[in-house]
Amino acid sequence: MADEITGGRSVHDGYQRGCGLMHTDMAARIAADPLYRAALEASGGWSIMVETKRMNLFLLLTRFLGRLGARDVIEFGSYRGGNALFMAWVLRELHPEAKVYALDTYAGMPATDPGRDVHHAGDFADTSQGDLEARRDALGLANLVVVPGRFEDSFPAIAEGRPAFGLAHIDCDIYSAVKFAQDAVWPHMTAGGYIVYDDADAPSCIGATEAVGDLIMARRIHAEQVWPHWVFRAGL
Ligand SMILES: C[S@@+](CC[C@H](N)C(=O)[O-])C[C@H]1O[C@@H](n2cnc3c(N)ncnc32)[C@H](O)[C@@H]1O
Repeated sequence: MADEITGGRSVHDGYQRGCGLMHTDMAARIAADPLYRAALEASGGWSIMVETKRMNLFLLLTRFLGRLGARDVIEFGSYRGGNALFMAWVLRELHPEAKVYALDTYAGMPATDPGRDVHHAGDFADTSQGDLEARRDALGLANLVVVPGRFEDSFPAIAEGRPAFGLAHIDCDIYSAVKFAQDAVWPHMTAGGYIVYDDADAPSCIGATEAVGDLIMARRIHAEQVWPHWVFRAGL
């Protein structure tokens, strides 16, 4: 199968990661990988992501991001920052020029839509921007940029710098935030950049699923993976 991008995704790459993780010993090999173990240690148990999703992100960062023209990473929804620390540790090792932007209110979920979302304002408030910055500094992760505030307020300043992202991790659970994040970041993705959704497949996040449905209908694109999470290629 050719390693080419058709219909907005590489079928070959999607099979390679998804089938590798589900049907081979790839997960065991990643779990034993010294870089994976060190990055997991750096994350301090501060991420609530499921393991297979973290492993797929690890594959994207270590085996696929290097093929792209730009490698900065942005996370919409970092909560305590565990996954942002994980990604920053991996990138510092492999692509030290690349930054990880970690966006969150760091004060809990903003207002939600009771017609779509089961989360409520104030969920995930047990976080601390100061603790995350202290851990980042203690680990020497100068490539991790902590960006507080609602995405709707904080992302425009990032966009002014005309960034190019290789990967956007959208992990914010509610319709309005997922919708804003995917639309705002799309024009700033490098060719073939990865848009990865943590919770569009979660039973408690049908608002996030709806936003991804909007993306598919508006952009007429196919997914490169739907397991362990939804992955699309942007910037094409
Ligand atoms: C499930 S948590 C993120 C989990 C995290 N990525 C991890 O690895 O543990 C979702 C986060 O999205 C944040 N969030 C949702 N909508 C937001 C918005 N519009 N602006 C900023 N943060 C938002 C919430 O504050 C919450 O911390």
